[in-house]
Order: sequence, then structure tokens, then C-alpha cells
Amino acid sequence: MTAKVLDVWWDGRVVGQFTQDRHGDIGFAYAQAWLDDDNALPLSASLPKRPERFSHRECRPFFGGLLPEETQRLVAAQALGVSPANDFALLDRLGGDVAGALQLLPEDQEYIETGPIADQQPMDDAGIVRVLDALPTRPLLAGEEGLRLSLAGAQSKVPVVLIDGQIALPLPGQATTHILKPPIARFRGTTENEAFMMRLAAAIGLDVAPVEPRSAEGRSFLLIERYDRVRDDSGVVRRIHQEDFCQALGVPPETKYASEGGPTFKDCFELLRRVSARPATDVLKLVDAAVFNLIVGNADAHGKNFSILYDDQGPRMAPLYDLLSTAAYPDLSPKMAMRFGKRATLAEMDLDGWQAFAKDAGVGLRLLRRRIAELCGAVLTESGGAASSLCDVSGSQAIPDINGMINDRARMISMTMG
Ligand SMILES: Nc1ncnc2c1ncn2[C@@H]1O[C@H](COP(=O)(O)OP(=O)(O)OP(=O)(O)O)[C@@H](O)[C@H]1O
Ligand SMILES: [Mg+2]
Repeated sequence: MTAKVLDVWWDGRVVGQFTQDRHGDIGFAYAQAWLDDDNALPLSASLPKRPERFSHRECRPFFGGLLPEETQRLVAAQALGVSPANDFALLDRLGGDVAGALQLLPEDQEYIETGPIADQQPMDDAGIVRVLDALPTRPLLAGEEGLRLSLAGAQSKVPVVLIDGQIALPLPGQATTHILKPPIARFRGTTENEAFMMRLAAAIGLDVAPVEPRSAEGRSFLLIERYDRVRDDSGVVRRIHQEDFCQALGVPPETKYASEGGPTFKDCFELLRRVSARPATDVLKLVDAAVFNLIVGNADAHGKNFSILYDDQGPRMAPLYDLLSTAAYPDLSPKMAMRFGKRATLAEMDLDGWQAFAKDAGVGLRLLRRRIAELCGAVLTESGGAASSLCDVSGSQAIPDINGMINDRARMISMTMG
């Protein structure tokens, strides 16, 4: 049995080959033309350009990191009839449109140039409901005719195309522009919660992906604009490359939490200082994100919930995404995915925790103190407005409850600096 091969495409050019040998091990090798082009970027900070092939262990964090996780991965594999541990088989079936610029295509498959947003029929509400009903047994609509879509994460979702404000499924080769996220069945109001946290982050001046809560036939879902896609003047949607911090640091998705060996704040700040084209700005962006997450109780901010975007401005921290107040759900652990020094919860937080965090970030304690005060103040000022704009839309009781809780947390944090 010879090796299996997928060509890795980036903006119409082949970057290299992703392979699986007869022992099941995956590998990646850059194409010579890509290596020879000094302007061609590496796929990942963890896969620097070199002629030697990357081993299974070396390339798995990046490639495996493109795939859905946990139950999403398991159920998608079942729908496709492949093994959930087989990254190659999963990318073979799902790797047509992923986070970032890449497309993974079988060797014999012709590359389809991304055209202008085609005039395919958007879905009506009944069509959207059919998608919502299909996702529990077909994550990312895995196995549906003509669709090869992948995104990381443990929650249900499917990338889509927005045409004049209406949702459509992508045509083969077409770049998706938005992500459709249904609510998490076992927790109340997650769509409203995530919409609220994302809108609040935007309202206080953080760089965050725009979101819109929508519904079809009374079924709510969140529509998230992709920051790794741009529409040029002729209406053609282009893919922009990105990778999450675990991919960049060579950490496989199964150990994304710092408690399992995944990235700590220190690792993340070091990564930004090493790869960002504007490290000082990005370090402050991550400081703000960490403080915001502690204020709103978003405990799930692990290394796959931060990314680096590679566009013509050079590598930099991507807008924030996946902001959910997990503190709204008492069944979820209150421990922050990344500790502030030795402190993992708001209740434990104290000056020691902040001092350790400032050291990890490489910023002064005075600057941090000022930023905490500003962000807490901004949350207290802006959260009511962000909450009421969304309450009007959904009529949900979840939002006022979360609003009250995060205001209490903002007041508490102001006092943790001692
Ligand atoms: N607005 C966006 N633009 C581009 N890519 C995005 C955007 N939002 C999310 N992504 C990508 O999709 C992946 C999954 O999204 P998200 O983190 O929201 O899913 P999730 O299933 O809720 O994750 P988790 O497992 O952390 O709960 C992200 O890791 C990121 O790579
Ligand atoms: Mg996530």
C-alpha cells in the first residue's frame, strides 16, 4: 500500500503535501517551489520552512488542530464511516474549507478558483431548520453531498456563506464567510450569552468578531462573521491564513488546556513576542482579553480560543472569538483555563496572582492596574446597553441574569488588586 496524499493549497498555489503512510502515520513536506519563494510563508509557526519532511508528531498539532474536537469529531467520523482518531481520513473528507487560508484537496482533484459570491439560492427558514436538525448527527454537515468543511472546537457549528444577508451553503471550493452556531442544548441561552459577551467586548473597545443572533421558525442560532475572509472589490471572497495558539506552539488539541500541558499565559505572551509584527500592541490585546475573560467569567479561554492572523499587515493577534460567560452555568468548572500565577478563579484572585500575570505578560504592574480599572469601569458602563439591545431581539431572561452577575464580578475584581 503506497502513501496517501492530499495537496495543501494556499491562494491557488500548492504549499506542499500532507501524507499518510501505510502505518497510519501522517507527515507533511513543503513543495520545492514554496521553499524557493522567499515571500511564501510557513503554514505555521510550528512548521518552519525546511526541505525535510515533518513527522507525525511534528505536524499533528497543526493538521489535527484543523479538525472538530471531542463529540463533534466522534460523531462526524461516525457519519463519514472513518475512525475518529484518523486525522488524514477526516481531513480528506472535511478539509475543503478550514480555519485560515488552506484547502486540502486530493491529488487528482482539480483546483476550483474562488469566484465571486455565486448566485446560489440562499436557504429559507425551513432550510435553516433542516440544517439545525442535521447538525447533531452530522457535525459540520459532514458527508453531505458537495460539502467538505472543517472547524476546530467541541461545540456544534457549520461554516456558511452570506449572500445579501441571507444564509447559503457553500458551493464546492467556495470560501465560507460566516459561522452558524446553534445553542448548546444542555445549557440555557448560550446563543444569547455568546452574543452578549461578543457585543460587550466590542462595546468596550476590544477587537472581536461581529456577531448577530438570529432565528428561524423560532429556533435561535448565532451568526459569526469570519475575520479570516475578505471580499475584494470584484466581490471575490479570499481566504486569509490563521492558526490558533495551540497550532502555533505545536500543542495537539487533546492537551489544549494549560492543566494538561497546553499553553499557559506565559507561553502565549512569548509566542506573540516571537511571531507578531507588532508585539507591543498584541501583548496588550492579550492582557485585555485575559482581564475581560476574568471579569465576565469566560473560563474556557484555552489555547485554541486565541489565534494569529497572517495578512498583508504581517502576523498579528486575530480578533477575539468564542467568548461565553461559562460562569453563568454552575455545572461548569469556575477554574480559568489559564491561571493567573497560582490563581484559577475570581474568588482566589489577589495581588500575588496579578503580579505573576504581569510578569508572564512582561508588562508593569502599574499599567496592569490601570487597565483592570479601565476595563472593569467600561464593563459596568457598557453592559446595560449591550444587554438591552440584545434582550429586545430575543426576549430572553438569560441576558439580564448574566448582566447582573458580570457587574458583580467587575466590582469584585476592582478590589483584588489589594
Ligand atoms: N469569527 C471567526 N473568524 C474566523 N475563524 C473563527 C471565528 N470564530 C471561530 N473561528 C475558528 O473556529 C474555531 C471554532 O470556533 P469556536 O471557538 O467558536 O468553537 P467552539 O466549538 O465553541 O470552541 P470550544 O471547543 O473552545 O468551545 C476556532 O478555534 C477558530 O479557529
Ligand atoms: Mg473555541
